[in-house]
Amino acid sequence: MRITYLGHSAFYLESEGEKILIDPFLRGNEMATKTPDDFEELTKILVTHGHGDHIGDTVELAEKTGATVFCNHEIAHYLAAKGVEAIHAMHIGGRYDNIKMTVAVHGSGIEEDGKMICGGNPGGFIVETGGYRVYHAGDTGLTMDMKLLEEEGIDVALLPIGGNFTMDLRDAARAVRFIRPRYVIPMHYDTFDLIKADPHQLDVPADVVRVVLKPGETMQLNKKG
Ligand code: NI
Ligand code: MN
Repeated sequence: MRITYLGHSAFYLESEGEKILIDPFLRGNEMATKTPDDFEELTKILVTHGHGDHIGDTVELAEKTGATVFCNHEIAHYLAAKGVEAIHAMHIGGRYDNIKMTVAVHGSGIEEDGKMICGGNPGGFIVETGGYRVYHAGDTGLTMDMKLLEEEGIDVALLPIGGNFTMDLRDAARAVRFIRPRYVIPMHYDTFDLIKADPHQLDVPADVVRVVLKPGETMQLNKKG
């Protein structure tokens, strides 16, 4: 299983038979090293909430690859109106196939032409692929709900650290202690001035490995068992 960081909160998960993109904000991100042109084949696109830095290039990528977009009901409605055909709507606490939607404490409005369209509740995802469980927190503040994730057996947690709009380094460190993953990869930092943070400063317990990836870098996990 391979996890590639694409900058901001965008990740590419690749395992046998699966090519999953999460929050594909690429064209609008100056720090991203990949564009939608780099992805020809995808099985799923996961969108945590309606903000532009997360929906990103979803419409273009869904149309091009035919991947199924997993998102909440309200974003599903918005994407369907944009012409996206393969959409799987779900909501917080729901599980479908190898995807579970989790709680995030944040907003989810979709900005378009100076108007705000309802994007439902924000969320995160637990993805089971290649024998691993990956938790993408989406944009969120620290919440006690993360304590429930300890029992989910999370292998890799992708957590925002940039502050202002989400958890900062201090609260992300508390989140790690709630979730108890094997690995944690920081995200949602440095893209804008307001969310500057040093990912190497994320404090983790001795049994958790902090993995700092630059945009375009990949973490390889060997087959379990
Ligand atoms: Ni957001
Ligand atoms: Mn964001």
